Amino acid sequence: MTTSIWKATAQKSNFPPLQGDITTDIAIVGGGITGITSAYLLARSGRKVVVLESGEVGGGTTGDSTGNLYSMIDKRLHHIQSKWDKETAGKVARSRTAAVDLIGELVRKYSIDCDFKRVPWYLFSETNKKDETIEKEIKAATDYGLQVEELQELPLPFSVSKAIKVEGQAQFNPAAFVKGLSQNINSGNCSIYEQSPVHHIEKGDKLVLSTPAGKVTANKVIMATHTPKGIYALQTALYPYREYAIAAKLRSGDFPDGIFWDTEAENHQSMRVYRKNGENYLLLLGGHHKVGQEDHYEKFFQRLEQKARKYFDIDRIDYKWSAQHYKPSDGLPFIGESADDNIFVATGFSTDGLTYGVLSAMIFDDLLNDRGNRWAKTYDAGRFTPIKSAKTFIKENINVAKQYLKDLPGKSEVDSLTEVKPGEGKVIEIDNEKWAVYRDDEGKVHSHSAVCTHMDCIVDWNDAERTWDCPCHGSRFKTTGEVIEGPAYSPLDKRKMISKE
Ligand code: FES
Repeated sequence: MTTSIWKATAQKSNFPPLQGDITTDIAIVGGGITGITSAYLLARSGRKVVVLESGEVGGGTTGDSTGNLYSMIDKRLHHIQSKWDKETAGKVARSRTAAVDLIGELVRKYSIDCDFKRVPWYLFSETNKKDETIEKEIKAATDYGLQVEELQELPLPFSVSKAIKVEGQAQFNPAAFVKGLSQNINSGNCSIYEQSPVHHIEKGDKLVLSTPAGKVTANKVIMATHTPKGIYALQTALYPYREYAIAAKLRSGDFPDGIFWDTEAENHQSMRVYRKNGENYLLLLGGHHKVGQEDHYEKFFQRLEQKARKYFDIDRIDYKWSAQHYKPSDGLPFIGESADDNIFVATGFSTDGLTYGVLSAMIFDDLLNDRGNRWAKTYDAGRFTPIKSAKTFIKENINVAKQYLKDLPGKSEVDSLTEVKPGEGKVIEIDNEKWAVYRDDEGKVHSHSAVCTHMDCIVDWNDAERTWDCPCHGSRFKTTGEVIEGPAYSPLDKRKMISKE
């Protein structure tokens, strides 16, 4: 099964689950990089904070991310400049630089053992088809004060046409950073609970968050859950995608330090090295696709492995994993107070989430302490940008509408349980109801309603990770029905289990 090199090599955390009812000033849902950095900053400024993490601190998307930290963005700074304006693109670059710097400061201050290292970031084209993209990005990065160099070759085992190098970016083990920082939060002001998924938030003068064994009553809530839990209009402006990663142990040879983005490779691959305990790992990432909308998912890992073996002397693939990201409709994340009073969101990070997560924490610290923040308006969660969003908004929401058509009677993958082989999952229709049926390796059948508990889309089987993934807004469920991630609060319905084949 899949696991990231970060989770496999980070220390374990050991916070208790919430038991009983408590009151706090600010409740933070989610113990990833956004939630834990927010808790750290807010507790430091004297606020009483409770963090509710559904699994283990740093064990969600943060632990499945790339470990890369950079001022640049997946969408490219020059695109933000043309969609918005120079001032906005400059704020994006400068705010992200400040977030990377804060991580560096925290690592130094607390001696967090997370392999934090300053490295250059590269974007390159393999042929001259994308040279113009590189040239525009060189100009944009230079305009925004980044230390930039133009190159015609890189220390890689294939030739490039043109490249941009930006100095002073960084890499770390994100799971180790979050776990290390969680140990250094002012414990007088902050309590962290693991294995405490929030099932519901009751809204009123106070906000009451329910977990399996206790409740938290709070004045404010930060949804540090990658995408907000529950139903928000904002979800029509967020589009869920997945990306894949492998950590390939090098038998011989080496890979240079740095973050290397290939602007031409299928699905925008990126490469980096991670050195741990005397071993050198090549990390290769790519394979971008919409959540729950592929026939087979294992192929994305296979393509990465093929590319790694084509250019490098690979001993074996020790780790493979995948992570979700949410693209925003207008190119910028949504960070700030949501349409629901006193609930703050941080979402739409695209693949740039580690840096944006820390930036969100910096913005929340200022907003919740009534201090001005120079970047809050740029990322305002309540902004309305119909012209900047229109093209993506229409395309993506037509796509969501098409997913609902899968709910029509007669659309099932197989007709009977006997067609589901060990290790497989399929959607079956019985009496006009869709069932998500999984047969485990021992032959036992696990069946649930295939209707997503967020907004009733039909889930899809992910053969690479053995999960049920919702193609509408990205909720994902285990084969046992529990929520892994996404906006759904509740597990898949198993009350009506199919009892015979
Ligand atoms: Fe919204 Fe499934 S995530 S319907």
